Order: sequence, then structure tokens, then C-alpha cells
Amino acid sequence: MNPSNAASPATARQLLEAQYRESLAAVTERMFAVAGIGPGQRVLDIGSGSGDTALIAAEWVGPTGRVLATDVTLAAMQGLAAHLRAQPRSLPIALEAVAAESLTQMPGSFDVVLARNCVMYFTDLPRALANIRAALRTGGRFVASVYGPLAHEPFHDIPIAAVRRRCPITEPYPDYVQAFRAGADVVGSALRSAGFQSVERHVVPTSRSFPSVPEAIEALRLSRSLAQLLSVLPESLREDAWTDIEAGFRDYESASGLRIPGEQVVLAATP
Ligand SMILES: C[S@@+](CC[C@H](N)C(=O)[O-])C[C@H]1O[C@@H](n2cnc3c(N)ncnc32)[C@H](O)[C@@H]1O
Repeated sequence: MNPSNAASPATARQLLEAQYRESLAAVTERMFAVAGIGPGQRVLDIGSGSGDTALIAAEWVGPTGRVLATDVTLAAMQGLAAHLRAQPRSLPIALEAVAAESLTQMPGSFDVVLARNCVMYFTDLPRALANIRAALRTGGRFVASVYGPLAHEPFHDIPIAAVRRRCPITEPYPDYVQAFRAGADVVGSALRSAGFQSVERHVVPTSRSFPSVPEAIEALRLSRSLAQLLSVLPESLREDAWTDIEAGFRDYESASGLRIPGEQVVLAATP
């Protein structure tokens, strides 16, 4: 990129965050439409991370409801914790560090369990799903989102292919790759094996937009998950991989900018 039109780091950071929010907006909307959360309900948010879904759930359950936001460590939820501390009125959200595989909540104590984009990172999917099923009351709902197949996710497919072209990607997989190792088919069949009923599948088209390809590359150079993927390569090959990524993204550029289509799947089931 010509240094004279390089985005400032703050602008690049904003672009990175905006495309992430854009890619999740339709997924989140569908998850909450399917979950049907109502006032006074109890919601368990698994792999809460930034806490977006816990905060939205808190709005839906209102002051008489409860949301338990969980993740493997409290550090993963530090942004959520800081946000909660800064609120003038307390929200009905409690935080707990617990992996889905180790959940020991009171059986049957939640109306809804949410898991946005985290089931693919579970180390023991059957065990985690058994715990989630046990945590739900009869008639409750588990609602999770996963990525669509890599072929429908060029935003991820292009960088992964750029790395694979130069070097095999082996276990432990970078998060970028792990995110595609438990798609809707795998999770749907694991749900049925765990005893969940009425497994629904909602395909949600998504997109990620940037003003231009160079600005996208500038922003993505700040992405920690993409840096982790590229660290699979020797340093001497990383710039070549970026050149491939830039070339791959150009297929999605038009006069109005760069728009990369994608797909996620929302799965819903009853215990
Ligand atoms: C891609 S982030 C998604 C965070 C959040 N759900 C969202 O949609 O913004 C994946 C999250 O899953 C968490 N995670 C990974 N393995 C987990 C496990 N075994 N049990 C619970 N959470 C886990 C990670 O710590 C991380 O916060």
C-alpha cells in the first residue's frame, strides 16, 4: 500500500471491529429470534468472551431474570467484567470461569443456553453437550452458531489456502482452522447423539465489508487470529502469503468497495 493512503492504526482497528460486528449481526439476530427469551427467564451463555450475547440476553430477561456468562477463564471475559463494573445500574449478569466440558450447574435450571461461535473449540463435544442438556429445563432451548463450510466462507478460506499452499497445517490447529472443524453437520449429529430433540438448522448469509482491498489488508494485519494462522509459516514466507490473500480478496471487490459474502448456521434444539 502507498504510505500516503495508508489507514491510521485507529482507523484500521475500527475497520477490523466493524467487519467483525457486521459478520455477526444477522447471526445474533437469528439466534435471539430462535431462542425466544422472555422476561424473568434464566439464560446460560457459554464461551461468552466479549459478552455480547450475555448483554443482549440481559435486556431480554429484564430485572427479574438471570444471565450466567461463562468461559474457560475469567480473563476471556475481562471486557465484559469491565463493562459491567462501569454500568450505573447493575445488570442481571453473573460471570463464572468454567469450560462447557466441566459445567456442573443445577440440573434443569436454565430456560435457554446460548453458544455463539464457540462449540467448535470444545475439546470434548459430546461431554459438553451432555452438560448443556442437563442444565436445561424440560422444554428449554439450546441455540448455537457455527461457521458454514469453508467453501462458503472465502474470508477464511483465502488465508487458510494461502498458508496451506506453502506448508501443511497440523494439530494443534490455529483458531482460524479449528473454527471449521465442527460445522453444522458435525454439531447437528452430536446434538442428536447427546439426546437433544427437534434439531433445527438455520442458514444465515453474512458479509464483511471494507472500503477497498488495501484497507482490508491493512486492517487484517492487526487481527490476532490471522497472525496466529500465519505464524504456522516461516517468517520468510508470510509476506508472500499476504500477497495471495490480497489477490484472492480482489475477486470480491467492486466499484463500491470490498464485500466478502459468508455463511453461518444457527442450530437450535430442545433437551
Ligand atoms: C470466537 S470466541 C466467541 C465469543 C463469544 N461467544 C462471541 O460470540 O463473541 C470463542 C469463545 O469460546 C471460548 N471457549 C473455547 N473453548 C471453550 C470451552 N471448552 N468451554 C467454554 N468456552 C470455550 C473461548 O474462550 C472464546 O471466548
